[in-house]
Amino acid sequence: MALTSLVKLNATSSQFIAQNPFNQRRRSPSLLATRRFSLPIRASSSSYADELVKTAKSIASPGRGILAIDESNATCGKRLASIGLDNTEAHRQAYRQLLLTTPGLGEYISGAILFEETLYQSTTDGKKFVDCLRDENIVPGIKVDKGLSPLPGSNNESWCQGLDGLASRSAEYYKQGARFAKWRTVVSVPCGPSALAVKEAAWGLARYAAISQDNGLVPIVEPEILLDGDHSIDRTLEVAERVWAEVFYYLAQSNVLFEGILLKPSMVTPGAEHKEKASPETIAEYTLTMLRRRVPPAVPGIMFLSGGQSEVEATLNLNAMNQSPNPWHVSFSYARALQNSVLKTWQGRPENIEAAQKALLIRAKANSLAQLGRYSAKGESEEAKKGMFVKGYTY
Ligand code: 13P
Repeated sequence: MALTSLVKLNATSSQFIAQNPFNQRRRSPSLLATRRFSLPIRASSSSYADELVKTAKSIASPGRGILAIDESNATCGKRLASIGLDNTEAHRQAYRQLLLTTPGLGEYISGAILFEETLYQSTTDGKKFVDCLRDENIVPGIKVDKGLSPLPGSNNESWCQGLDGLASRSAEYYKQGARFAKWRTVVSVPCGPSALAVKEAAWGLARYAAISQDNGLVPIVEPEILLDGDHSIDRTLEVAERVWAEVFYYLAQSNVLFEGILLKPSMVTPGAEHKEKASPETIAEYTLTMLRRRVPPAVPGIMFLSGGQSEVEATLNLNAMNQSPNPWHVSFSYARALQNSVLKTWQGRPENIEAAQKALLIRAKANSLAQLGRYSAKGESEEAKKGMFVKGYTY
């Protein structure tokens, strides 16, 4: 039975269950259908429920993942500066045009996260970027958070801004063609993390997720646990479990429809400055352990961030996680680990565009194979093996 039709049906004697935040299972369409009763999903999001589920499923489709190019203007400026270009709107447009008009990209990429400027931008020939994406069957997404700010009363930690006016902005983004959203907040292991910072991160993500769903956007839930620090992989696991437990607690309290969200976790790795590196197999084991303990199978997709790993590392780790079936689609939503070789190849020169697009397809295909558990790093370039970790990185 369709979710939208379910919400129109009357509430039943099990109304108290609907008020219990832990009863997400009650929202499963099949479960509701087989038991022949129904509960309201969440009145305000009901009109989009079916669409949210469909959008999330299409992004989490086999062999595909997300291209994240939602760098703020300041961060995009850093990317451009690395190849000697000024941070002008024309240069940002040229770079995004290169990426978004890559022929055949849709074979490996199911969604693209854009910055607001790009969502409203067109190619130099006047074709809207959102239409370029649609032609490749790629779902346009939008970064909706307003960045990080110091969190008073914490241990030098931060919180994520952007809830004010989010409902009206999200409605506008939907009109412009966006169908999913991203909100990135961060948690720092060396800073504690404090109970206050974890609660604030989880609460903010849940508020954002509920507002996004009300406006037809599938929320990507991203509490990035930063790579910064010299801690062990066991410590990362401990913090990740704590963070995700709290995130799901508040998602449930906010009546977020789990079938209509996507997650963007960090992989569970040792801190960047830890004395020992972990193998892809170890990272996969820790990361999947954490996810199995914390993420309900109702969630359709886990789309990892790369967080400063090299292109090859991020792909190898993803491949290791797909060696046996998972309850969710386990894939990628990389920015740095998809863009590094592209930028280096492009160098801002028109004559290099074709080669740069080929470089993007090589990375996208490698990660597509990793999503299917069939990637091998044989023949990868030295450039693709270079780490991209930056201490205190801001996005
Ligand atoms: P990275 O893959 O560079 O860590 O980017 C993460 C991100 O949040 C992009 O949307």
